Formats: sequence, C-alpha cells, structure tokens
Amino acid sequence: MGTSTQVPHSGSTASFASNPTLVRIRDLIYSEAGIFYSDNKLHTLEERCISRMKEAGATSLRTYYEVLATSRNSELVNLLNRITVGETCFFRNQPQLDALRKIVLPKIVEAQAKSAVPQIRLWSAGCSTGEEPYTLAMIFLEESQGVLKGFRFEIEATDLNEISLEHARQGIYGEYSTRNLPPYFRQKYFLNTGESLQVNSMLQSKVKFSRLNLQDASRMVFMKGMDIIFCCNVLIYFDTSSKRMVIQHFYNNLTAHGFLFLGHSESLYGISEDFRLVHMPSATGYVKSPRTPVMRG
Ligand SMILES: C[S@@+](CC[C@H](N)C(=O)[O-])C[C@H]1O[C@@H](n2cnc3c(N)ncnc32)[C@H](O)[C@@H]1O
Repeated sequence: MGTSTQVPHSGSTASFASNPTLVRIRDLIYSEAGIFYSDNKLHTLEERCISRMKEAGATSLRTYYEVLATSRNSELVNLLNRITVGETCFFRNQPQLDALRKIVLPKIVEAQAKSAVPQIRLWSAGCSTGEEPYTLAMIFLEESQGVLKGFRFEIEATDLNEISLEHARQGIYGEYSTRNLPPYFRQKYFLNTGESLQVNSMLQSKVKFSRLNLQDASRMVFMKGMDIIFCCNVLIYFDTSSKRMVIQHFYNNLTAHGFLFLGHSESLYGISEDFRLVHMPSATGYVKSPRTPVMRG
C-alpha cells in the first residue's frame, strides 16, 4: 500500500501492537476509511505517521494523534492521502477489457435499447490516478461507432486520495503508467509533450472525477443507477466487514442487468451471496443474483 519516507524501526510486531497511540491511530483510520492495519503491518503505519508529523507540527506520535483527533479531519485526510497511494496503469487487465467490450457492453445495450434515453453509466470506484477510467473511456469512445452507436455514456471516477485525483484531472502520465498503452490509443487520445503523455481534451471530458470514501454510507447512496462498476484492487485495503458494506452498496447501486468487475486476484467468496460469478471466459465478473422472495405463512 503506497510509498513514503522510510524510517528505520527496531520494534517487533508485539511492541508495535502494544503501543496504545499507534493502535488508536489504526482505529481512527479504520473507522474513517475501512482500511485495517493488522498487527504485523503496524510498523508501516508508524512510518506513514512519522512522514507526516513534521508537516503537521507534531513532535511525537502522541502529539500527532492529538492533531489527528482535533484537526476536524484535515490532517486525517492528509494521512489518508499518504497511506493510499495506489499502483495502477493504462490497460492493466486486457482480458477483462476484452470481456467488457465483447460480452458486457452488448448485453447492456440489449437491456437498455428500449429505454427512452439510451445511456450507459459506469463507475470506476477507487480510480487512483485515473488510468483505469481513461482506459474505459477510450474503449467506450471506440465503441461509440460500434455497439454503443446511438448511446450516451457517463463515466464517474472516484477515490479517497485527493492527490491521486488531482493527478487524474491533470491527466499527465510518464512511461511507467503508459507501458501497456497500444500505439493506436497513444496517437489518438494523447498529446506527446516530450517527457510525458497528456490525455487530450476529448478524452478528459469523458470522465468526471470526485472524492468519495467507499465507507461513507451517506454518499454511497447517491451512486445509484450504475450499469457497470469497476472496483479493482481496492478491496485489498479492507477487512471482511468493510468489504461487505461496500459490496452491499454496489448491489444497491447497480441496475438489474448491471455488471461488477473486481481485480484479477479478488473475489466475493465469503463476502457476499448477492452476486453470481460469471465466466466470460477471458475474465470473470459478477451479476446480481435474483433475491429469494421472503415466504410469508
Ligand atoms: C491499487 S489502487 C487501484 C487503482 C485501479 N482501480 C486499478 O486497479 O488499477 C487502490 C485505490 O483504492 C483507493 N482506496 C482505498 N481505500 C478507499 C476508500 N475507503 N474509499 C475510496 N477509495 C479508496 C486508494 O486511494 C487507491 O487509489
């Protein structure tokens, strides 16, 4: 999870777990964002806190906790920005994108075709620095003369990390994140500025970025009517109960014919029975299971 200044530490797992201030900071992060640091990861949390302490004007972990607890969340947001720096790239999972294009889009188009305003809404939940939603927007744009002809589409991209979102809005990327970007897309949707590639204005206009904490139930209820949700490589941050809550919101926010995609190594096994696994066959996704009607005597 993320990167930060490396601070040497000498403690054992037990000594970190017995540090009450660190445990309180862990609890604060968990209750705010669902991100759980197990005892053997507490040293990483301590490093992240130490890397923020100076800027926050704190001289010890204890005073840093006081800042966190009393700064009306502003330092907590800074700490969350520090601990959630996410790995991503363009065209990260090609088999999944093939399944989207060849199987999912035609199915949704068929289901939506009769509606007065044919449109498709997609949500990239945990979009990090924007590579995922821009990839999806390129696929939609390409398909707008194919299977999506006559359809409007909306792509909402959300993340907890404000710094990643600002990067996403600017849309400037280096070699590492564009390493899988095929030449055709590179030429069509990017401006080459020499050292980096910048998303062109047409592509930029197709994605709406906003900050959303997936654990914030009061905001999650406003994400209704999604036909496709991508939540890839995000659930790894959460423990089982945080995962369950997020998945329940996805269930409520997906349309009846909607699809949910997770990361390559993620699954809903043991998390939810409200979804059914679909093999496509290049990738897997989830659709809503029909809810069993409650029998009344
Ligand atoms: C590894 S990145 C995944 C990026 C992209 N989905 C992909 O697969 O390439 C995980 C992202 O989840 C975000 N995240 C972690 N906890 C979150 C929360 N509670 N609410 C929203 N986003 C969160 C992080 O900020 C990070 O950008």
